[in-house]
Formats: sequence, C-alpha cells, structure tokens
Amino acid sequence: MNCIGILTSGGDAPGMNACVRAIVRTAMSHNLQVKAVLQGFDGVMKCAFQELRARDVGGIIQKGGTILQTARCKEFYTPEGQEQGLKNLHYGGIDGLIVIGGDGSMRAAMALHQRGLPVVGIPASIDNDIWGTNMAIGVDTALNTIVEALDKLRDTASSHKRAFLVETMGRRCGYLALMSAVIGGAEMVLIPEVETPVEEVMDTIAQAYARGKTHAIVMVSEGAKYNASQLAQYLAEHAPSMQTRVTILGHIQRGGRPTAFDRLLAARFGVRAVDALLNGQHGTMTALGGREIALAPLSEVTARQRGANLEYYKMAKMLAR
Ligand code: F6P
Repeated sequence: MNCIGILTSGGDAPGMNACVRAIVRTAMSHNLQVKAVLQGFDGVMKCAFQELRARDVGGIIQKGGTILQTARCKEFYTPEGQEQGLKNLHYGGIDGLIVIGGDGSMRAAMALHQRGLPVVGIPASIDNDIWGTNMAIGVDTALNTIVEALDKLRDTASSHKRAFLVETMGRRCGYLALMSAVIGGAEMVLIPEVETPVEEVMDTIAQAYARGKTHAIVMVSEGAKYNASQLAQYLAEHAPSMQTRVTILGHIQRGGRPTAFDRLLAARFGVRAVDALLNGQHGTMTALGGREIALAPLSEVTARQRGANLEYYKMAKMLAR
C-alpha cells in the first residue's frame, strides 16, 4: 500500500480533526502518502483529492468541525454511484481508505469494502448510535456542551420556578438525552427507546414541585414520540398554571473544542486505523471496548443500530427523587 485516502462524512463531530491529524502523522511515519478526500463521499464522486502532509494538519487538534468538510451524499447510496466512486479512488491513486463518520458512513465504507477496496472505518457521531463501539468520537464533547447548558438553565428555572423542556439531538437514539439526564440531574427524560404517555410528563413535573423542588428539567431526545414543542403545547392546554419553557439545543451540540477524552479517542482510533490498513485487517471499524481499542467487522456494525442503555433510564428515574 502506497497511498491512503481519508474522508469525513455525515454530521461533523468534535475530534474529527484530531483524528485526521493522527492518521496523517501515523501514515507518514510508515512512509505512506496521504490524500484527503474533501466533502465526504461527494468528494469521491467529484475526485476532490488533495495531498496532506504533516504540516497541513498542524494547529487543528483543538478545532471542532472538520477541515476536510463533510456532506451527506445521496449518489453514493446507489450501486452505480459506488462503482463510479471506486473508479475515482483508483484514478486518484488511493489504494486504501479511512472513513471517519456515523452509521451511514460505515454503510458506505462497507459497500467499498465489498467491491474490493481496503477500507477501515472510524466511528464519529455525537449520537453514539453506532453498533460495536462503546464510544464514538464527538460524544463526550457533545455531552459536556449539553451539561453546561443544563447547569445554566437550572439557574434560571429555579429562580422562576419553571419547567424546562430541553431537546437534544440523537436522531433515533436516546443516548445524549439519557446520559445528560443522569449527569445533569434532570427530573425526567423522554427517549425513542421508551414510549412515555404525555400525561406522565405533567404528573412528573407536578410531583417534583410537590416534593419541594423549585424547578423541573425534562430532557427530550430527538426521535422521542413527542418533541419539546408538542409537550409544551400540551402542558399549556392542560396545566396552564405550570410555567414551561422550551430550549432546543440544536447544532450547538455538534460544535466546539473537543474534550480531552475525544482528542485521546481520536488519536487512538487514528493510529489503530492506519495499522489495520497496513496489516490487512480491512472491512473493519475501530472500536472502544472497555479500555482497549479493538476492531469490529463492518458487516456487524452495519447490520445493527445501537440504542440507549435502559439501565441508565432506571438510574435517571431513581436519582430524580
Ligand atoms: O447524526 C448527527 C446529527 O446531529 C443527528 O443528531 C441529527 O438528527 C442530524 O445529525 C442533523 O443533521 P443535519 O446537520 O443535516 O441537520
């Protein structure tokens, strides 16, 4: 193998840049050439390749987002797009590819692997919905962002005796809402994995006040049956004396400086991915299992989706007394 390509794809995640840096410098220490594929799989379709050297990845370790840019590329979902993509990568002299991204990106990586290209994936998505790894790059930073917001919201919620409905990202996975409920001390959490009747939200808030609380924080995950605005509307109609406010954290959760945890994870995944490419361990994804970095087969990773761990759901309820 002489030249490896790197791309970042799907939603950006803090720590992607630290990972790109680790890959480039590890590859260079093995005398490999590295080419960036710009704008994810869109860049594969457009042959947007650019050589990366050690100095090109200087000063990016602390930056959120991705210097390679990213995209969600519909064309690459089709067999014709994948065939063309493979030809373009060969034309660009790329004989091994590292794909940094979420579950959709891992499916695209799997398609290239099945067509014979040596590919290794690196999980990076704030949703933490990728099967096979305990943590993806970006999750820890997003959780820290959410918890910081919750601490601020609690100040104002308490001062006004208000209930806040705080909506997090996560697509179909409740991980971010659930973990931030535990570590941010929320009174309640609504996630896609557990269907909660809307009346229960009203009752839980009322009971929290009855127990002497001066605020109520309800975490609402993207993908839950009701979103924060729908819940607020229900509460306004059925409990008009209850003061509620909605905060949708949105894309703020995806930005910012990666935490120490995410930078270290990014470095470890990046180094392992290059080793895997060189050792013929293709068609795999780097994964955190316990404290060790392992490799999970892309065939398994792409066949399942990780959901929130319901042990934490019980814990969040118990600790909200
Ligand atoms: O997958 C990451 C994520 O932020 C999800 O939580 C969310 O559903 C989606 O991406 C938002 O995508 P976009 O950036 O296209 O709005």
